[in-house]
Amino acid sequence: MSYLATYQAAQEDPAGFWLNKAQLIEWDVQPTLAVTQDDAGNERWFSDGVMNTCFNVLDRHVRDGRGQQAAIYYDSPVTGARQCITYGDLLGRVERAAGGLKHLGVGRGDRVVIYMPMVPEAIIAMLACARLGAIHSVVFGGFAAPELAVRLTDATPKVLITATCGIEVDRVVHYMPIVNAALEQTQATIDRVIVLERPESPLAQQSVRELSWERFMQVGEPAGCTPVAATDPLYVLYTSGTTGKPKGVVRDNGGHAVALAWSMSAVYDVAPGDVFWAASDIGWVVGHSYIVYAPLLMGCTTVLYEGKPVNTPDAAAFWRVVSDYRVRVLFAAPTAFRAIRKEDPRGNGLADYDLDCLKALFLAGERLDPPTLNWLESLIDCPVVDHWWQTETGWAIAGNPLGIERLEPKPGSATKPLPGYQLEILNPNGVPLPAGEQGAVVIKRPLPPACLPTLWQDQERFEQSYFNTFPGYYLTGDGGYIDADGYLFVMGRMDDVINVAGHRLSTGEMEEVVAAHTAVAECAVIGVHDDLKGQVPLGLVVLKDGAEVAAPAIEEELIQQVRQTIGPVASFRRVLIVNRLPKTRSGKILRSTLRAIADGRPYTPPSTIEDPAILKDMALALAPS
Ligand code: COA
Ligand code: AMP
Repeated sequence: MSYLATYQAAQEDPAGFWLNKAQLIEWDVQPTLAVTQDDAGNERWFSDGVMNTCFNVLDRHVRDGRGQQAAIYYDSPVTGARQCITYGDLLGRVERAAGGLKHLGVGRGDRVVIYMPMVPEAIIAMLACARLGAIHSVVFGGFAAPELAVRLTDATPKVLITATCGIEVDRVVHYMPIVNAALEQTQATIDRVIVLERPESPLAQQSVRELSWERFMQVGEPAGCTPVAATDPLYVLYTSGTTGKPKGVVRDNGGHAVALAWSMSAVYDVAPGDVFWAASDIGWVVGHSYIVYAPLLMGCTTVLYEGKPVNTPDAAAFWRVVSDYRVRVLFAAPTAFRAIRKEDPRGNGLADYDLDCLKALFLAGERLDPPTLNWLESLIDCPVVDHWWQTETGWAIAGNPLGIERLEPKPGSATKPLPGYQLEILNPNGVPLPAGEQGAVVIKRPLPPACLPTLWQDQERFEQSYFNTFPGYYLTGDGGYIDADGYLFVMGRMDDVINVAGHRLSTGEMEEVVAAHTAVAECAVIGVHDDLKGQVPLGLVVLKDGAEVAAPAIEEELIQQVRQTIGPVASFRRVLIVNRLPKTRSGKILRSTLRAIADGRPYTPPSTIEDPAILKDMALALAPS
């Protein structure tokens, strides 16, 4: 079936379309209902279905003869480790980990927070939760203690699973001081902390609530799968919103498994047995969906890479991994290739490797800028596909569905909406805009399977963030346009969320940290263009009277404060002290005007601006050095 026919089938009969795709997974109780509404009015997929996600990623494949096939290739240039873990192996280890969790009192609906680097034990921990119907919440290792603490407070887990360290190129990031600080700061009571001791960071001493990973794997009896409702949460993944409090995106079990399994063939064009590599981190949605769940649901081999695109040891690292493991599809962020191109502009690093195996390169996390696209296309002999999605959706909203039909690509476009998603562009009054006109990108309800059914214990914020602006539509937060041929161009966020090296961060949250400094009178943090990372945060700060003398020291303090409160991943390295900030007469800081000035884009200041003369000062202050 063509793209158009498939798209129309999903649009005209979503129930029939998705109940048919539901056959891709195994159910304890087959669903008869497609999309229904729950008591809160939220759309729920397959609400009468019963299944277990872990069964679908492991037991089923081992039963069907994949026990000896590699499930995970673990490749860690930062430690020198390499492992091949078969489906049979992985199942055995997950059964034991699930037994350990059960022994510690974890069961269906309980939360487990996982704060781990890119090691196989992190995947084992996630799948062990899924096996018991427990809800995991993975926290990215680049977040500082207060971020971990906020997530612990919100998720109230019974157990925290961690490791003694992560490794950033050659810098050992010791986790225990971060974990212990977070445990002190959180309002949640956590019964047990399971610690994977890594040789790079030996465990100095063990507290009574700590349990070593080795012991944990032995304390219980191997556990079987707990059947759960399709609508039971599989995980909560916190992501940046526009305020300091992260949003707990809930993912259900059934809809998630169905949409992800289908996406593997329809979008990525892979089959069971193929090697799939998402060069992301398990702390992000890409890692959840395409390092862990989707490849294993499909019976593929996933690559778990604990390294960077450059410096571990060089800019050929990605090509080496593709060649060594015969990767069929690579999925990464454009920023990773900008980093590689900076080190190796001619692509000399490819020469040593056989990349015949690579059939497609998918990019997401930020817009694939045409120069990076052109560079990649000049080097590799396979489709380079931009696809657009968010933590909230769990899989791509728009892309080039290679497994259905390879559409003619257009540089700068994420191609077309995928079957299941109905996209529109609205003006601020909610009026649909014609082709070519830029506005808010929205998705008509209902959202397809796998998209978030709610925010963790915050239904009000769920409605307010996504549905109240334009009734009947999900607000993506991105701006863009659809051209006359139906191609989507996503141009960037319309809110205070920024994308720094493919990482989603909140400038509002950074502002809260900066504003808390005693010398700061007021501030704005904006995302400005960066050639490598796409965007980086810039703090514009007005100091209190008399504080100017200590300005350089304050700048450094603010940088350190953001690093220690949010984490190094915020990449908050630039602070500019200014005399005042441009505002409307009602006192609202003109952030979008500031962003335009900083990026050298044309702008029209609002008529409500308090004092237009200030824009000249801003232009001088923000002029690229
Ligand atoms: N644990 C601890 N610290 C981390 C971390 C982690 N998991 N991930 C990043 N950090 C730290 C980095 O070490 C760096 O610290 P520093 O300020 O001491 O140098 C800081 O956070 C910023 O990291 P990053 O933005 O990643 O910048 P970088 O200069 O280290 O690397 C790239 C630049 C482009 C190579 C890197 O950002 C990258 O590989 N990006 C791809 C991102 C990606 O895959 N995103 C997923 C979307 S698909
Ligand atoms: P995250 O939730 O971390 O996956 O970040 C989602 C945001 O990243 C989106 O709302 C977009 O702003 C941005 N994004 C992701 N993929 C793309 C893409 N292909 N093109 C443009 N922006 C993207």
